[in-house]
Amino acid sequence: MAIVERVFSGVQPTGNLHLGNYLGAIVNFVKLQETHNCIYCVVDLHALTQGIDVWGGPAELTRNTREVTAAFIAAGIDPKKHIVFNQSQVTGHAELAWLFNCVARVGWLNRMTQFKEKAGKDRENASVGLYDYPVLMAADILVYRATHVPVGEDQKQHLELSRDIAQKFNNDFGDSIRSHGHNEGIYFPLPEPLITGPATRVMSLRDGTKKMSKSDASDNSRINLTDDADTIAQKIRKAKTDPEPLPTEEKGLEPRPEADNLVGIYAALAGVTKQAVLQDFGGGQFSSFKNALVDVCVAKLAPIAGEMKRLVADPGHVDSILNEGANRARVIADETMRATKDILGLIRQR
Ligand code: TYM
Repeated sequence: MAIVERVFSGVQPTGNLHLGNYLGAIVNFVKLQETHNCIYCVVDLHALTQGIDVWGGPAELTRNTREVTAAFIAAGIDPKKHIVFNQSQVTGHAELAWLFNCVARVGWLNRMTQFKEKAGKDRENASVGLYDYPVLMAADILVYRATHVPVGEDQKQHLELSRDIAQKFNNDFGDSIRSHGHNEGIYFPLPEPLITGPATRVMSLRDGTKKMSKSDASDNSRINLTDDADTIAQKIRKAKTDPEPLPTEEKGLEPRPEADNLVGIYAALAGVTKQAVLQDFGGGQFSSFKNALVDVCVAKLAPIAGEMKRLVADPGHVDSILNEGANRARVIADETMRATKDILGLIRQR
């Protein structure tokens, strides 16, 4: 029983989908459709892990789940050829997360930097779900025995944890795995992160040392996928820069986080390298580069925003895509849950 190559990734429905989510993740989701079987998930259970001020409450969660689905489709994901669904519709995610809770070690979770960032100073008051977030992530991926996971740079550590969980499960239950027909003693693949492209970590437009984020208080720090052309133009023109002209060589960007970020964004949107961007704009002032950046940004994002608007106006249609995707996802997840229960010795209905 060979492991097939399969892509899985997820996006949280916590509002304000931005250019970082698009360039760091969604653009790569679209590309991978050509070479892999892909499963793309709106991770609504993950959205619940933070305070209600972040996930927005029930009505917002529903709205945001549809909006992320719309963004997937508007960006070019084909829900007929691949699977698009929301996490809570497939119970295998939460069920496998429990089993993995008994494999993952407290020491591993204590090292997770995102928990520390998100919990902030008041760690005692963070939800248990926020602490367990990366274990549910491992379950998301491994319930489909996915082999490749396109994500932004910030998810690298979580992916390492998924690999550790898969490895420990395979080691701890190797004999049982073999006796259930997997002769190499491997049931879960070690998922590989795919962190690719010139914009794996898009930074805030207000501060080149901070990640572009949904939760930044300043809306000017990010370009939202729903922003119209005028808003995009304004935000880019206001973006922080430094007084020097753009360098002609990529290494000249190293000590200049804001310049590096804008050049990276341009390169990712235009589908070229940073060096190619500097060949065109190096030595020039930011103002003319910013005008070109506005053009490329609007040309890419405006059609997506338009299509998202059209899709969210028909929630019945979006929900039917999610339901159909969930039905297909469930077939794979159920099969993994049956095999995992057998490997662990849990009696199940036959
Ligand atoms: P979320 O919704 O926070 O982010 C979704 C994706 O966007 C990427 N991203 C960025 N990339 C570049 N620059 C940025 N500034 C930036 N901000 C966000 C994230 O890396 C991510 O790829 N934990 C995941 C959701 C998840 C998941 C999974 C992913 C849940 N289960 C299983 C992969 C596999 C997350 O960060 O969501």
